[in-house]
Amino acid sequence: MKTRITDLFGIEHPIIQGGMHYVGLAELAAAVSNAGGLGIITGLTQRTPEDLSKEIARCREMTDKPFGVNLTFLPSVTPPDYPGYVKAIIDGGVKAVETAGNNPAKWMPALKDAGIKVIHKCTSVRHSLKAEAIGCDAVSVDGFECGGHPGEDDVPNFILLPRAGEELKIPFVASGGMADGRSLVAALAMGAEGMNMGTRFIATKEAPVHENVKQAIVAASELDTRLVMRPLRNTERVLVNAGVERLLEKEKALGANIKFEDIANEVAGVYPRIMQNGEMEIGAWSCGMVAGLIHDIPTCQELIDRIMAEANTIIRQRLEGFLAA
Ligand SMILES: Cc1cc2nc3c(=O)[nH]c(=O)nc-3n(C[C@H](O)[C@H](O)[C@H](O)COP(=O)(O)O)c2cc1C
Repeated sequence: MKTRITDLFGIEHPIIQGGMHYVGLAELAAAVSNAGGLGIITGLTQRTPEDLSKEIARCREMTDKPFGVNLTFLPSVTPPDYPGYVKAIIDGGVKAVETAGNNPAKWMPALKDAGIKVIHKCTSVRHSLKAEAIGCDAVSVDGFECGGHPGEDDVPNFILLPRAGEELKIPFVASGGMADGRSLVAALAMGAEGMNMGTRFIATKEAPVHENVKQAIVAASELDTRLVMRPLRNTERVLVNAGVERLLEKEKALGANIKFEDIANEVAGVYPRIMQNGEMEIGAWSCGMVAGLIHDIPTCQELIDRIMAEANTIIRQRLEGFLAA
């Protein structure tokens, strides 16, 4: 399939694996890229820029296809060494960066000078237009369904994608709720030129996470996610578990007075314990409603091949068939 997204990143299929904390390691990024999509290493999961350089080198040993790095700009008391991470990306010869969180304007000159294509992930039309205005090459439009941070506007992709299509000149991919060939064709119909998946890629053979995490996604239905940290205006969609129920109880009890410290036990330092140790009940980890559409744990190659075959059948048979009737 050829779209402006496949052209932009030099990939075979318009499928991107979004950055995921403690999931987007070299193994997954390489597997997605080898299967013809764009795999992405999550920059901040690497403790230092030196570690990121090593992870980029490790990924390059596993694939000769293009892959990217995610840089998430979140408000934090002690910000990570962003200049160091940007340098590691540039020196590592990476040609695609997925930015997320705050506006990446400050980093655009360095990234563009190095010939890097920038896709900014955001959850609203106004932020997408801002990304276009500051010179991003593409946008990943993340609907309310998504795993992770859906923002505070709560606009689902059935509205958000066509709205983005009405306004944007640069290409965009649909993100949030994407799982299969149906998702891809629907995304294309709504104006996107590809799709970005998070949760779906966790339940793959190559995802370097504990088996419990994959099984939890397969077992979950579309009713099993919750929104946490809304009172802090840092909303995150997570899979429900005992820790998340505890967190939500605190949010209810403390109301507008809640502070991050009140819920730190359920959100801080949770990722390595979930993703590496498989301690599934301890707290909040991102997961999309799309879990309801995930029923197996294929390889990335099997998943992407299946998506492309299904998309082909839907377009050529189901949709064409309606016209012929
Ligand atoms: C476990 C997990 C961790 C994530 N971590 C990040 C992250 O560190 N930075 C980021 O930009 N997005 C992160 N995301 C969001 C994904 O990149 C992607 O936008 C989102 O999962 C899309 O929604 P979906 O899960 O419905 O496919 C994460 C998502 C998940 C499920």
